Amino acid sequence: MSKEIKTIGVLTSGGDAPGMNAAIRAVVRAALSNGLRVMGIRRGYEGLINGDIFEMGPKSVSDIIHRGGTILYTARCPEFKKPEVQKRGAEMCKVFGIDGLVVIGGDGSFQWAQKLANLGINTIGIPGTIDLDIACTDYTIGFDTALNVVVDAINKLRDTSSSHERCSVVEVMGHNAGHIALWCGLACGADVVLIPEKKEDYTKEYVIRKIINNRHEGKNHNIVIVAEGVGGSAELAKDIESITGIEARATILGHIQRGGSPTAIEIKHASMMGVKAVELLMEGKSNRIVAYRCDQYTDINIDEGLAMEKSVDTELYRVNKVISRY
Ligand code: ADP
Ligand code: F6P
Repeated sequence: MSKEIKTIGVLTSGGDAPGMNAAIRAVVRAALSNGLRVMGIRRGYEGLINGDIFEMGPKSVSDIIHRGGTILYTARCPEFKKPEVQKRGAEMCKVFGIDGLVVIGGDGSFQWAQKLANLGINTIGIPGTIDLDIACTDYTIGFDTALNVVVDAINKLRDTSSSHERCSVVEVMGHNAGHIALWCGLACGADVVLIPEKKEDYTKEYVIRKIINNRHEGKNHNIVIVAEGVGGSAELAKDIESITGIEARATILGHIQRGGSPTAIEIKHASMMGVKAVELLMEGKSNRIVAYRCDQYTDINIDEGLAMEKSVDTELYRVNKVISRY
């Protein structure tokens, strides 16, 4: 017989992402609407093991739907890999009466949710990372907002780059994945997109050939997107300038990509996923990840989800290559 859930805990873990607040709000409001108690846990698993836990009422999540970051703060908690620390996490849940836990974060955070599930705490993960690098879901909270921040920044860089007839080399986040780079490359009409998943296009020769070809086609400036997982944007800009004679500047966009108000699409996904997580706990489910797949909100076993490998959208990559020729 499945365990009846009376109190839900919620935490955010790993890199923050716009829309996490909207997800927290949805979890809190859905739980309270169903007569459950909600406990907020500050600083992810760190707060769990330190007992940094407080009760959340309906007004505790007022006026946060539009705010970036996370009101619960976030942390990476490497010590949670120790079995004795995991046991302490499960004991803390029991001390605070938490029988169901919602973890909003990346797949690293889901690993710890899996451990807690094995220790008898019902856990549900909500994918929250700007990187879109969680294999079992088509969407991760934060991606759309980060992408729009990146596109806005690159459009500004284009103003100056075209005025000076320069080449702008822009490095964007994504950890080891190239999703942000690929999507912003398409949305900004970049000449070249370098992503870790397409190593064959890394070469300096390939980039320079593209830049020169596009100049011959009449382009007066260039945009080269480099994913963080490829790196080396400053060196690449120097090489482009010294080999082609075209002035080049590198910009690493950095943490600005993690900030800002969530887009409407973001808030929609965050709200749907937050409510789904609470409903899964009420159904007695545990060790699941809320996933958005083929336009549906569904759920998948954490073990299965973590074993999956995320592939890059090769069609998007191909299409971008086709239309970036001029
Ligand atoms: P982020 O990608 O922003 O670090 P995650 O939720 O993926 O967010 O990871 C949060 C934390 O989980 C990491 O900082 C690390 O402590 C831990 N973690 C992540 N990936 C792994 C892994 N493959 N093995 C062990 N621990 C991991
Ligand atoms: O996972 C989100 C992310 O922003 C990655 O794109 C990046 O590699 C990493 O976090 C940066 O982490 P930190 O905030 O610790 O510098």
